Amino acid sequence: MDKITIAIDGFSSTGKSTIAKQLAKHLGYVYVDSGAMYRAVTYFAMEQGFIDKNHFDVSGLISKLNEVKISLKYNDELGYSEMFLNGDNVEKKIRTLEVSENVSLVAAVPEVRAQLVKHQKNMGAEKGVVMDGRDIGTVVFPNAELKLFMIASPETRAIRRYNELKQRGDDVTYEAVLKNIQDRDFIDSNRKDSPLVKASDAIEIDNSHMSKEQQFEIILNLVNKTLKSS
Ligand code: CDP
Repeated sequence: MDKITIAIDGFSSTGKSTIAKQLAKHLGYVYVDSGAMYRAVTYFAMEQGFIDKNHFDVSGLISKLNEVKISLKYNDELGYSEMFLNGDNVEKKIRTLEVSENVSLVAAVPEVRAQLVKHQKNMGAEKGVVMDGRDIGTVVFPNAELKLFMIASPETRAIRRYNELKQRGDDVTYEAVLKNIQDRDFIDSNRKDSPLVKASDAIEIDNSHMSKEQQFEIILNLVNKTLKSS
């Protein structure tokens, strides 16, 4: 059976990466977390001092983009790939609320998007890839055989993300996490370059009231149907 491309888009904390990892493992496909790439560039911009509380030096970041080398390395123990920025493992550092508070501004910069989208297209050139993000079904892989668009209520999403951050030991409040999710939804949906929209041929999945197991079963059925017909 030929390999396909699976594009999973949706708002923040809708469980895209959970289902993407499950599918990649089950199918023996490569999983690419495109959000982690935007997070890595954001972390770079913060480290380089291009972003502080009230200011984002966009042209400073653009002038240094050629120094940003990101790569994903598979970790056998974890069962998924970790993000490396210029040789350093930044997997933990890119998931903080501070990075989340800046990432949508960085992701709205067309030069950043052009560089990352090129990388993403290369990673999926051979198919057999599950990639999640905001523009995967619309811009990165418009010809993907299966496109999913994940939704869930903002409160459900904020609780999920709050619990994740707390489990890591991060000092955050539910209110700050909810606000970040709402801010990112707004910026991601309203930016000029590749805004978050549902592709016309994407299948919408509302997982507000689904367990991970139910969600996996429903989506695996869709994958199997797509594999049969492609
Ligand atoms: O996991 P979470 O839902 O928090 O978001 P993420 O997938 O890690 O993405 C972080 C941010 O990167 C998003 O809020 C977007 O601003 C940006 N992003 C994007 O613009 N395009 C993508 N394909 C993926 C992420």
